[in-house]
Amino acid sequence: MQRLEAESQLSYGDLDRALSRKEIIEGIRDVDGLLCLLTDQIDAEVMDANPNLKVVSNYAVGFNNIDVQAATQRNIAVTNTPGVLTDCTADMAWALLMCSARRVLEGDQLVRSQKWGGWEPLQLLGAEISGATIGFVGFGRIAKATAKRAKAFDMQILYWNRTRLSEIEERQLGVQYRPFDDLFPECDFVSVHVALTDQTHHLLSKRQFALMKSTATLINTARGPVVDEEALAEALQAGEIAAAGLDVYEHEPVVHPALFKLPNVVLAPHLGSATVQTRTKMGTLAIDNCLAVCRGDRPPNLVNTQWKSFGDGGSKE
Ligand code: DGY
Repeated sequence: MQRLEAESQLSYGDLDRALSRKEIIEGIRDVDGLLCLLTDQIDAEVMDANPNLKVVSNYAVGFNNIDVQAATQRNIAVTNTPGVLTDCTADMAWALLMCSARRVLEGDQLVRSQKWGGWEPLQLLGAEISGATIGFVGFGRIAKATAKRAKAFDMQILYWNRTRLSEIEERQLGVQYRPFDDLFPECDFVSVHVALTDQTHHLLSKRQFALMKSTATLINTARGPVVDEEALAEALQAGEIAAAGLDVYEHEPVVHPALFKLPNVVLAPHLGSATVQTRTKMGTLAIDNCLAVCRGDRPPNLVNTQWKSFGDGGSKE
């Protein structure tokens, strides 16, 4: 905020809550750049509130909250914050995986309730992590960082991705490709890492849960709507899968009520990038991106690569 204040005329929502759509529309009427959060829906109507808007800089790597096509049509640059939250989010996937597999929350509750009667041979038995098989749905930066951690647990690593890696890369990373439907029956853990698009909406639904082992755990640190939450709740209730560790939800911040009742689900409030170091780096990148466009430069993390800077023949009516 200090940097933005020094380098621009800054106005911001200081209400300690997400701005409403109306507040965003009113707030951007006279600005060159908008630095927004993943909770802000930036669509054509919002962009049209200011025909001079040059950049929408998202304080997130995911940008499903922005209508990129509408921005490109208006020659508005869209930017994000890739790279800086990779390890942090991979750590979170692992936190959820270990917490769900080893039933840490149930254990915590048992101890806190002061009803714990001491060690028992069959108490809160969980799933073995070391040597198990983990499958990745989507295999970009964050999935690869999560897989790197899986290596240290001697896990077998499978992945499905829209584009298959080269054989050399597969060998170097020690991972094996599976066609989408073939991935699920083999895995003890399935970790979701695709971006949310029209094609990935409800990519995991009834059918995929039916294909999974009844002992398997689902981890989602990507975007909620990639998983059909209703179908997930049903699969967990029916024992079709054993557990889930979720950081993201289909209708954030609303969570499917059935999930609250299930002890085999770990629910985190979208904390994937939530460390001081990572959020600071994300802020720095978002500011770099925003100010670069306002200065007339190409930003470091341009999403809509068709965008043309002014020097490049682009214009803003
Ligand atoms: C992102 O940057 O897309 C993450 O979801 C933030 O935690």
